[in-house]
Amino acid sequence: MTEPRNIIIDTDPGQDDAVAILLALGSPELAVLGITAVAGNVPLALTEKNVRTICELADRSDIPVYAGAIRPLVRKLVTAEYVHGKTGLNGPVLPEPTMPLQEQHAVDFIVETLMAEAEKSVTLCVLGPLTNIALAMIREPKIVPRIAEIVLMGGGCFEGGNTTPAAEFNIYVDPHAAKIVFEAGVPITMFPLDVTHKALTTRKRVQEFRDMNTKAGTATAELLDFFERFDEVKYGTEGGPLHDPNVIAWLLKPELYSGRHINIEIETTSELTMGMTVADWWGVTDRPKNAFFVRNLDADGFYNLLIERIGTL
Ligand code: RIB
Ligand code: CA
Repeated sequence: MTEPRNIIIDTDPGQDDAVAILLALGSPELAVLGITAVAGNVPLALTEKNVRTICELADRSDIPVYAGAIRPLVRKLVTAEYVHGKTGLNGPVLPEPTMPLQEQHAVDFIVETLMAEAEKSVTLCVLGPLTNIALAMIREPKIVPRIAEIVLMGGGCFEGGNTTPAAEFNIYVDPHAAKIVFEAGVPITMFPLDVTHKALTTRKRVQEFRDMNTKAGTATAELLDFFERFDEVKYGTEGGPLHDPNVIAWLLKPELYSGRHINIEIETTSELTMGMTVADWWGVTDRPKNAFFVRNLDADGFYNLLIERIGTL
């Protein structure tokens, strides 16, 4: 096997973030150098605690966990307890984490790691608002050319928004950070609602996790049972979209996905469309093609991968 791929996961757990972290920890192709928490679905004090809870669920208290930005760069923090519950990890009853939170700030960890590791040897997997990533780029611009790839869940085009008619949550929470990241010139692969809405947590799929009869499998089923309830009503579907694990699945099986290199600009002026990812899918402008916009997936292949890897925990 080739050398594992170095990744940093930046996240705001969130049930779907939790499943993404479990997928990463169940995949030996990936070396998780650290997990950095950001305010998003719930406040930072909960997202950092939730990261530690999930690491211990996977018996991986060796993974260093860092707390990052407590709020977006400019706007007030908007959270999503209505989707994720008060704790952000509603669903399973999981023990309080005992592993420590690292003293170092997440942004300093991201900068230090990117400066220390070989150029273009670290991939940033971003599952929440982009605040930590933008702050790291501002803190030390030298990291920008050293990042191998930023793979992120966020945005939307044909699917519109899930937080406003125009904007998806991660981008909406911190549009100024998203603008900095999308304009930085780093290779970006984005997983917008256009693809995540095709990865539904159907009853059959959730049952497969429950049938594992393992700590991680049962917890995953309970996380998804809770998480999907809001979106099932909203979208009228069986099951809800499973967003964040697609970021990790891309690193493991890119052949599950298809998309197009296009220009993405972020709206940071109009309140009506604040946080919109303006996607030039039809190439009607000569703006730089700054992101690979993933639009389709093999949903069964995606869930088979999740079952296989979470089944190893
Ligand atoms: O819009 C979905 C995204 O917002 C996911 O990352 C979910 O966890 C929330 O952060
Ligand atoms: Ca998230």
